[in-house]
Amino acid sequence: MDYFALTMRSCPHCSFVNPPNALFCARCGRALSLPQSVEKAAAQTERRFVTILFADLSGFTALSETLDPEAVRDIINACFERLVPIVEEHQGVIDQFVGDALVALFGAPIAHENDPAQACHAALAMMDVIGQVNIERGLDLGLHIGINSGTVVSGSVGSRARQQYSVLGDAVNMAARLQDAAERGEIFVGAESMRLTRAQFEFTPRGAMLFKGKGEPQPVFQLIAARAAARVHRPVQILTRLFGRERELALLQRITHTRATETGLRVISILGEAGLGKSRLLQEWSATTTRQAAAEFFIATCAPDGNARAYALLAEVARVLAIRYADAVAGTPLAVLRQAADPTQFVGDMDAAALQAQYVNALRGALMQVAARAPTVLICEDIHWADAPSCQVLRRALTMLSDERLVFCVTLRPERETAGWQLLETLQESPGATSAQIYLAPLSESDAQAMISSLASGTLPSEAQELVLAQAEGNPLFVEELMGMLIERGDLRRDGEQWVLTRALTALDVPNTLQGVLMARADQLPPDARQLLQIASVLGREFPLEVLEHVATALGITQ
Ligand SMILES: Nc1ncnc2c1ncn2[C@@H]1O[C@H](COP(=O)(O)OP(=O)(O)OP(=O)(O)O)[C@@H](O)[C@H]1O
Ligand SMILES: [Mg+2]
Repeated sequence: MDYFALTMRSCPHCSFVNPPNALFCARCGRALSLPQSVEKAAAQTERRFVTILFADLSGFTALSETLDPEAVRDIINACFERLVPIVEEHQGVIDQFVGDALVALFGAPIAHENDPAQACHAALAMMDVIGQVNIERGLDLGLHIGINSGTVVSGSVGSRARQQYSVLGDAVNMAARLQDAAERGEIFVGAESMRLTRAQFEFTPRGAMLFKGKGEPQPVFQLIAARAAARVHRPVQILTRLFGRERELALLQRITHTRATETGLRVISILGEAGLGKSRLLQEWSATTTRQAAAEFFIATCAPDGNARAYALLAEVARVLAIRYADAVAGTPLAVLRQAADPTQFVGDMDAAALQAQYVNALRGALMQVAARAPTVLICEDIHWADAPSCQVLRRALTMLSDERLVFCVTLRPERETAGWQLLETLQESPGATSAQIYLAPLSESDAQAMISSLASGTLPSEAQELVLAQAEGNPLFVEELMGMLIERGDLRRDGEQWVLTRALTALDVPNTLQGVLMARADQLPPDARQLLQIASVLGREFPLEVLEHVATALGITQ
């Protein structure tokens, strides 16, 4: 199926004419459309988990002595002009400008899966940009930043005549105080933001500090740098052995074993909702296979904002292939492919079609090279976030391969309206390819129970065990996070081999670690469906359909 149909779209930034339905420009890579229903989402007042970033420019006192106020204002504006796009690139929105400071929100009005990490990436990029501005203009400006995550009330604030979308809450004040406490060049992060991003970023503890309005000293962490794992939305943790999934793992292992002798494209898809264990299954498969040296694995990962950046996935494929094949010399397919990693290469004389044809040839050549050395498994993780141009290149290149020992494997959440889903469907139907589909179901009750016991390394009180079991619904990520929350909050305390409950539990909150995953999904729904979801969540986990229908009709929800 061709997913480029109907009218062409021209880019508001560089005027390049793009294929119809494109979400981003094939030349400059900028987004062509705003995230859906941003305005509608902003119109609602609600409690939301958000990450707030305060960035304050400093160093103007010295300038004010030599320059007139208007010139200083121009410099401040020039800085903001460089800082604002960084917020937008990281899926944040500007909340307001306060003097020399800007306030940005990540997770409101629309949540994304990795908002706290996006705020950290944005903060690091802002520091770099101010460094560049200083060099370019011979200035000595500084920037200090505070980041904090928490639940706030979001919606329109202000007088009836003048309303603005904003967020209110203690978490916002804390972000401002962290920024105040940070010295020039420092990014101070609150405990919750740090906890949610520590797998992806390096932090230095800065001790506990007393802040206005807080009785107790609050732990503060300094953001230092992104780790290599930062591009993965949530690195897989290995906290327990693998429960269940024996059949799925055996099927995958069988495929890599026969690959040593068979040729022809083999397409594998691992489908499942967030947290069901797609990445973990891949890890187990690759670990057991490479130990037997049956195949070489290359894992390219799409980021949650990957579909807004043209050729993001192709660049990632090039990167992972080149890690093992560092001998890629100029002119070879792999070297050409690596150009995809550099978006400035797009702006040349070559039109989009010629560029794509070049990438198709390069990818095909590179995969032939790699598969000639050893049976190869190329994995694209999370292709529901893949950008459409990369998917087109992959489709064209892969369907041209037939004599190689190549397995192409994708993991994805079941989201049909994505370029990744369409790529998969096309490949599965392509002549000469054989395909296998693994649909991950929730863990069985006994496996989930065994996982809970293994995480606790002991016995839980039965109320806690039942609640985690019921709320996680066989999702291993939910099991891990619910258990983590209970222990971290001190609801469960260890007493020898046993765990004891420190207070009565009737229901469990949604852990902050799962807020992004769940809110991002809810925010994608059309406004009526979203409102229905809110009503349903008030009604509880199970309720008669008629009750929901009744309430919905009373509120004027017709669809
Ligand atoms: N069968 C299992 N037994 C034990 N732990 C598991 C199992 N499956 C997954 N896990 C654990 O659950 C967590 C979530 O798994 P994983 O990251 O693989 O989910 P995913 O399906 O890839 O989610 P996403 O769509 O968000 O990428 C990980 O920490 C992983 O180690
Ligand atoms: Mg995963």
